[in-house]
Amino acid sequence: MKDTSSKNSIQHVGIIMDGNGRWAQQRGMPRWKGHEAGARAVRRATEEACRQGVSMLTLFAFSNENWKRPAQEVHILFTLLHRYLREERKELIEKGIRLSTLGRRDRIPARVLEDLQMTEEATRTGTRLHLRLALDYGARQEIVMAARALARRVVAGDLHPEEIDEVRFAAALVPDPVPDPDLIIRTAGEQRLSNFLLWQSAYSELYFCPKPWPDFEEADLACAIADYHSRTRKFGDLPRAAVSI
Ligand code: IPE
Ligand code: IPE
Ligand code: MG
Repeated sequence: MKDTSSKNSIQHVGIIMDGNGRWAQQRGMPRWKGHEAGARAVRRATEEACRQGVSMLTLFAFSNENWKRPAQEVHILFTLLHRYLREERKELIEKGIRLSTLGRRDRIPARVLEDLQMTEEATRTGTRLHLRLALDYGARQEIVMAARALARRVVAGDLHPEEIDEVRFAAALVPDPVPDPDLIIRTAGEQRLSNFLLWQSAYSELYFCPKPWPDFEEADLACAIADYHSRTRKFGDLPRAAVSI
């Protein structure tokens, strides 16, 4: 049953931006046109996230598995990312938006990495919204890396296996702890996580939007957040109204 009596707090929204290719193909255009239009949707979602008072927005931009795509598509995706970083840097600074990434950095083309580092540095003090781009990201890989880091500490005698708990494991996943996503949105009608934030999404509310990502508008994010507020989050406990039973 839905509890609409009070709003859930919302700090962190994650979005699996899907459907760029289909959006373009439906219009008789090459797939990259969909990625180009997808970049415009990123701007809209970022602005709306600020308006909605969300403090962290994590966008799934490129997965570990997306390297399987044709080299030309991968090249275009990184070219568009490069363009986005150069065009948006000033606006991100002005709007108080901090940009950072999660995922592997060693396979990001050098020219893009350079602008990425510049943008991260230039926006580091932004406090209005923390925009995180999941780039060459895969949750399983992230979990394996954390397990490896903890195992190394055990071998070094720095940590006892019994000391590994959820808090320590989560801290090993990412250097700077961030809140788990309250809400994860996926566009284009697909209903799966595709290796996005698997550990962190244990209690995330999921929202599936049928529109392909390039058609995702401010109102769609507002709708998703309104729907989130209508959910009853229990985390295994009883809903607040039933506690007196
Ligand atoms: C999302 O759109 C962008 C990336 C995964 C990089 P897709 O490119 O997956 O679009 P569809 O799912 O093929 O339509
Ligand atoms: C997930 O979309 C990855 C991103 C949005 C970057 P995909 O299009 O790669 O996922 P699958 O292959 O449909 O699961
Ligand atoms: Mg897809």
